[in-house]
Amino acid sequence: MVIIMDGKSLAEEIKGGIRARAMAIKEETAIKPTLATLLVGDDSASNTYVNGKCRDCEEVGIDFVLHQLSASISERELLDLIDELNCDPKVNGIVVQYPLPHHIDRKKIMASIHPQKDVDGLHPYNVGKLWLGEYDLDSALLPCTPKGILRLLDRYELKLEGKLVVIINRSDLVGKPLSKLLLDRNATVVICHSKTPELDGLARSADVLVSAVGRRPDFAVSEEMVKEGAVVVDVGMSYIGGKLQGDVDFDRVKEKASYITRVPGGIGPMTRAMLLQNVLIAAEIQGGQFE
Ligand SMILES: NC(=O)c1ccc[n+]([C@@H]2O[C@H](COP(=O)([O-])OP(=O)(O)OC[C@H]3O[C@@H](n4cnc5c(N)ncnc54)[C@H](OP(=O)(O)O)[C@@H]3O)[C@@H](O)[C@H]2O)c1
Repeated sequence: MVIIMDGKSLAEEIKGGIRARAMAIKEETAIKPTLATLLVGDDSASNTYVNGKCRDCEEVGIDFVLHQLSASISERELLDLIDELNCDPKVNGIVVQYPLPHHIDRKKIMASIHPQKDVDGLHPYNVGKLWLGEYDLDSALLPCTPKGILRLLDRYELKLEGKLVVIINRSDLVGKPLSKLLLDRNATVVICHSKTPELDGLARSADVLVSAVGRRPDFAVSEEMVKEGAVVVDVGMSYIGGKLQGDVDFDRVKEKASYITRVPGGIGPMTRAMLLQNVLIAAEIQGGQFE
């Protein structure tokens, strides 16, 4: 019988801990954990994500400050605002909602956020710490989705050492950081992408298959791509007829997998919970609790 890895309930449990920790930080220090979010333009998906972040923060007692900015803001003006927030002791975490208008260089923006306020874990300093192995899962600012995936696998006590993990995604947000976290658990990791030949065969060899493509119906993980007894993690998000769908053909693949995540209810809520956790980690780093 397949086990469905329930990211939603684990995320709720983690949020309970975050709520208690946020309260303790407020009582024990002068810090009121605060997340500043910068939304440029009026992309409707970005609006939805930002509203979700606001609700999540409210739920756990983190202050949420939204900076809603015109799509015509210059790169310089955006950098100046980030600089202001970097210097503001009341702000613990900064998120810039992507995508950004084409005239703004995303990498420049990412690198302008103070590494100690980089709650998306994408600043070159934090990326470097991850790749040098100088991190601790509980106290480092790591990218939220890979960290959420690892937490979920850990909850189900899935052994990663010696396992072949195939990740279909090579982005800075998902595939690359996840591959490093898994290497550090002594897994053997293969990263696939749109130019990978024989992808189906590689996927079929995986003990653990992670798919994060988000291009349904052009790309889907079918049951032929999954080994009997594999662990399947679905990160992909596609909206088809207004309905959210993952990469994986869930109904068929669940007949072959030993463990599987659902979309929605799997990695999405874990990612959101990890962002909240990163805000507290950032607050604690700034308060001197962590190095
Ligand atoms: N659940 C969550 O919380 C969460 C969090 C983050 C992301 N996501 C979702 O995960 C997906 C990926 O996000 P992202 O930011 O990493 O996007 P991305 O940068 O566009 O990455 C997509 C990856 O899929 C690969 N790909 C595209 N078509 C493919 C194909 N036909 N065969 C094999 N690989 C293919 C791309 O390969 P190339 O590099 O060659 O283009 C790329 O590596 C999206 O659906 C996103 O919404 C979900």
